Amino acid sequence: MKKQVVFGLLLASVLVFISGQDDDDYLEPPTVLIALLVRNKAHTLPMFLSYLEQQDYPKQRIAFWLRCDHSNDDSIDILQTWLEHSADHYHAVNYVLEPQVRSYENESSPYEWPASRFKHLIALKEEAFQYGRNIWADFVFFLDADVFLTSKDSLKTLTRLQLPIVAPMLISESLYSNFWCGMTEDYYYRRTDEYKEIYHVKKQGSFPVPMVHTAVLVNMNHKAIRNLTFDKNKLVEMQRSRQQEPLYDGPADDIIVFAISANSSGIPLHICNDIIFGYILQPLEPGDSLDNDLQQLVNIRGLMVNDLGAVPPLLDYYKNLAKKPEKSKLSLDRIFMINLKRRPERREKMEQLFEELGIEAEYFPAVDGKELTTDRLQEMGVRFLPGYEDPYHHRAMTMGEIGCFLSHYSIWVMMVRKGLKEVLILEDDIRFEPYFRQNAVRVLNQARGAVNYDLIYFGRKRLKEESEPGVTNADNLVHAGYSYWTLGYVISLQGALKLLAAKPLHKLIPVDEFLPLMFDRHPNNTWSEAFPKRNLVALSASPLLLYPIHYTGDSSYISDTEDSQQINVDTSEEGEARLKSDREQVFVQEEECTLDQQLKLGESLPKSHQEL
Ligand SMILES: *[C@@H]1O[C@H](CO)[C@@H](O)[C@H](O)[C@H]1NC(C)=O
Ligand SMILES: *[C@@H]1O[C@H](CO)[C@@H](O)[C@H](O)[C@H]1NC(C)=O
Ligand SMILES: *[C@@H]1O[C@H](CO)[C@@H](O)[C@H](O)[C@H]1NC(C)=O
Ligand SMILES: *[C@@H]1O[C@H](CO)[C@@H](O)[C@H](O)[C@H]1NC(C)=O
Repeated sequence: MKKQVVFGLLLASVLVFISGQDDDDYLEPPTVLIALLVRNKAHTLPMFLSYLEQQDYPKQRIAFWLRCDHSNDDSIDILQTWLEHSADHYHAVNYVLEPQVRSYENESSPYEWPASRFKHLIALKEEAFQYGRNIWADFVFFLDADVFLTSKDSLKTLTRLQLPIVAPMLISESLYSNFWCGMTEDYYYRRTDEYKEIYHVKKQGSFPVPMVHTAVLVNMNHKAIRNLTFDKNKLVEMQRSRQQEPLYDGPADDIIVFAISANSSGIPLHICNDIIFGYILQPLEPGDSLDNDLQQLVNIRGLMVNDLGAVPPLLDYYKNLAKKPEKSKLSLDRIFMINLKRRPERREKMEQLFEELGIEAEYFPAVDGKELTTDRLQEMGVRFLPGYEDPYHHRAMTMGEIGCFLSHYSIWVMMVRKGLKEVLILEDDIRFEPYFRQNAVRVLNQARGAVNYDLIYFGRKRLKEESEPGVTNADNLVHAGYSYWTLGYVISLQGALKLLAAKPLHKLIPVDEFLPLMFDRHPNNTWSEAFPKRNLVALSASPLLLYPIHYTGDSSYISDTEDSQQINVDTSEEGEARLKSDREQVFVQEEECTLDQQLKLGESLPKSHQEL
């Protein structure tokens, strides 16, 4: 049974412009037809539609052309819910939902692309395009349901560009996005350096590229747009009539044909990265399952927390569909997140990440350097390592650094008291790499099977170019060299005992200097000699599983997996300067760990640390 309902009037009727004002801006925003083809997207539709609904764009200037078929999940139900609640707000919704046909003939998986599927999809896209022409839409926005336009300004920003064809650059869990920067002679993807520059927003703006897909805004008022097509036969016909050589001989693939068709008509395709428009799921391959998509969703939601502070909420009527992964301790005894009570915003963000990623972590209030006093330190028997001074600032430890040390130290003490065998200690300003949960468990299992380990860095900064031998029989572990940071590490009970046995409170030094001393990879022999037993077995995950959030100190910094895994340590003068500024950077933004703080008298440690 085919249903087709058109709400309201045709868009043509609203194309009447009110004139007589000298405003620079158009008086009414242009009309947009959103062309949406859905197949098996029950897991992304609620987010997709919720974010679309939140666009800061008058709904009366938006129409939908919506088709859903060949689905065997709840896509149609979810769309129907949206139609019931939201369709009336838009200028028009033209839809056909076909619940009967649940798959393509002979396909073994819904992630396969038999020719019949291409044919069907191309016919639908042509129909949507024609519909856009018929209703005189200013723009047609071809959109897939695995796109999350989290920026409310997406539609406004894109339409204002007034480009013939433009795509909002979308971020994925990896380097995948909805554009190509290079195309081979035979119409396939070609790697370019420019791609990463655009993807990582090393340059910002709108850039002509050979291919955009998945979220593509087409300006219907642009001359020559009307002759564009998704259909290979029509393209070749057009090229022939224009006597364009060579004729297209590539695959009958909708996105490639459309790109070539635009190029043949002299129309550039642009990718825009002016704002963080939103996110995209990487398409699944025939061997994949829905689980792969669900895991991608977890990763993307983690990115949203990092970039946006939270996952934007779903529409009320979809709230019951929200699913979070079950929480896990990653096969460890406990997971602690150290956070200063006066930084509740960081705690909140971390707790959201734990929710989204499914990590069962406990809050561990940090020892606040601001509340430490010399008296209190004396009471605890704290003495500093003779001759210690910060190698870059040439000053003694700050109260912030002391607080940091005591926070970590008190967890080691607790481990011994409670007999906790393996604990993950996290700081509160970190970014988890995609697949953190799975990779953490994998790394832990490798470590347990390979060595009697004491400590595993999940995140760190290498400070020296030195060999780091791989751990035998463990693909993702190396023996750690001199490293900074204590963003996240696993420590065993045996490791905690070794660290405490060194009596570090009597020779205090920043915690991220202390650890390398204890595994005997610290370059300063004078300091090393202060700790005679340096037999900590310290490994590092390779690649790392987490990074600091503001690694570059840039608020618009977007995760950069590829670059951040390559650790370039330069030993030249410049390298020295970089190391210095790196340490500064980390600890400057961790102000509680750096700023030279005056010792204040009279305040005591928070209760939770008094057992020290
Ligand atoms: C499906 O498989 C059958 C048997 O191999 C074949 O006859 C038919 O043409 C196939 N259908 C399509 C659409 O490929
Ligand atoms: C579009 O196609 C028609 C028919 O093939 C042709 O007459 C017209 O010149 C084309 N327009 C452009 C801009 O190429
Ligand atoms: C068409 O493609 C060629 C080859 O990639 C390119 O040089 C040219 O700039 C493109 N034309 C437009 C209008 O994008
Ligand atoms: C070790 O640190 C001390 C104190 O900061 C310094 O005087 C000494 O030169 C350092 N030694 C080496 C080998 O770097």
